Amino acid sequence: MRHLSVPSAQTQQWLEICRTHNWHSKEAGISRLEGGLNAIPLNDSAPNESDSVWGGNKHIVLEVQLKGPTHWLEHIEQELKEAYIDDWPRSYEVQGDVLIVKIEEAVWDFGEMIADAMLTQLPSIRLVCADQGVHGEFRVRKLHPLATRDGSLDTKTRVKEHGNLLWVDPSKAYFSSRLSNQRIETLATAKRLHKRLGRSIVVADPYAGIGPSMGVLLSEPALICGYLLGDLNPDAVELLALNIDYFSSRRKGTEGVPLQPLQPAKIHCKDAFEWAEDSSNCGQCDLVLVNLPHQSISHLAALLPLLRRDQTSVIRGWAIIERSQHEECERTIVETISSKGGTIEELSFTEVKGFSTTKSFMCFEAWINMST
Ligand SMILES: C[S@@+](CC[C@H](N)C(=O)[O-])C[C@H]1O[C@@H](n2cnc3c(N)ncnc32)[C@H](O)[C@@H]1O
Repeated sequence: MRHLSVPSAQTQQWLEICRTHNWHSKEAGISRLEGGLNAIPLNDSAPNESDSVWGGNKHIVLEVQLKGPTHWLEHIEQELKEAYIDDWPRSYEVQGDVLIVKIEEAVWDFGEMIADAMLTQLPSIRLVCADQGVHGEFRVRKLHPLATRDGSLDTKTRVKEHGNLLWVDPSKAYFSSRLSNQRIETLATAKRLHKRLGRSIVVADPYAGIGPSMGVLLSEPALICGYLLGDLNPDAVELLALNIDYFSSRRKGTEGVPLQPLQPAKIHCKDAFEWAEDSSNCGQCDLVLVNLPHQSISHLAALLPLLRRDQTSVIRGWAIIERSQHEECERTIVETISSKGGTIEELSFTEVKGFSTTKSFMCFEAWINMST
């Protein structure tokens, strides 16, 4: 490919000139040459080397690695692409090596072609599935496999989050990376509570799903000394147990201090509403997480008995509410805690931005003292 060779300090200036006149080729990048020179790729409409516009800079021919398509749609035939221009998927979600995409009715018949184009464009993807919405008691996604790189249709895969590998299976258990920042905030709360109590803490996560919150908490040296975890969905609990084994095996102590075994270390597969019926779960936890956003506030009363008595403890959860219900929900949280004998030291009830335009996705965090 023909290139304009320029002193490297003038690269930006010549690139601008070539772009303004549409002489720059987008099929290759800028190449570094010996002698402090750079080469800008030119297309066929750029004038010959002899033209005075080049100010005496030379043209050279370089073998280049063409950039190739940058979007999966570029692998679809032009005519077809234009015929359904408004219907092709505009976004997709990736969990590990599984890609999940919603396919509009109008292009459903091209599902396999779309998936092949995605596999061609995205080398890290093994399996492409159509998302057919949530279903069943545990509201997990129905996935329809469209194309696979290696013949395997297994949706179980691993996701890296905050340096931890998590086993996930989008067709069997809930997982979303959208709450990943919230997990860092949970870690900050846990550290603050650890500092306040002057000791390692016990965490309960009764709606743990596959257990992403525990990934960050257990990787912090000596922060956690025990846990009560669970989920109603047996498939989620299976993945949760795998993940906890993995996080526990990587647990580190602060330098020189040997690690105590985690105690309690329980994983339940049952309704969180019933946990407090077992007295061995009550009064055990310093921090309780409540992640069942459509019911978190109504489940609070059943979870408060898990907290330790006569000390500062924290209940932190997430709730989806109507915008107009903000004050009413905050009042319900306060009243629920008081009715169970808790004194609130500090309460925050703040919106987590970017989830929905119609409803509010809220995070509440109450620092409380439950009296005996
Ligand atoms: C929104 S997901 C949160 C999962 C996890 N905490 C996370 O952040 O990825 C809610 C989880 O609660 C579970 N669940 C629903 N109802 C439950 C109940 N009554 N008791 C315990 N778990 C429940 C679901 O199976 C699901 O895994």
